[in-house]
Amino acid sequence: MTIQPIIIAPDPRLKTKSFLVEHIDESIKELVQDMFDTMYYERGIGLAAVQIGVHKRVLVADVTWREADNKEAVSGEQHVLINPEIIHDSADSQSYKEGCLSFPDQFAEVVRPSGVRVKYMDLEGVHHEKDFDGLLATCIQHEIDHLNGITFVDHISHVKRDMINRKLTKLKKAGMFDHDHVHGEHCNHG
Ligand code: NI
Repeated sequence: MTIQPIIIAPDPRLKTKSFLVEHIDESIKELVQDMFDTMYYERGIGLAAVQIGVHKRVLVADVTWREADNKEAVSGEQHVLINPEIIHDSADSQSYKEGCLSFPDQFAEVVRPSGVRVKYMDLEGVHHEKDFDGLLATCIQHEIDHLNGITFVDHISHVKRDMINRKLTKLKKAGMFDHDHVHGEHCNHG
């Protein structure tokens, strides 16, 4: 179990596009394990590899995990999407108050298609085409954005985006994110 440090915005690494995974080897399996460990530790529901500094097109999600009495995160339905690609958007949209582990304690309403069909590879190298809806659809779109160097604040007004970036820059300068810290809230972090 390896918890990796999460890159906090603003950071040029979060604006960089990730590379396709050519083949699945032991390093990708370790990466996915680290991503789940880090995501649960930070109380997130999704994580893109770029957020722990690995520019590979890998995302993990689990929107149904729960906290046990001993405060440990108990996994729910785990999703691993390698080289994911949205091949269909639903006509209708939905809005969620999104957060992101790379933007600690910052939230904003983001409107996205309420359903998506995604083409991807799983950890065994098997290709899938699957429909996602509800919170999972939002989460997966948020994580695929990360793989393209896009973050949720790119979907909101520039006024609000500038405000969030200024706040995080200030907190970073003050050394706020130099230590591990567990977030109290977990809803919609990704
Ligand atoms: Ni995120």
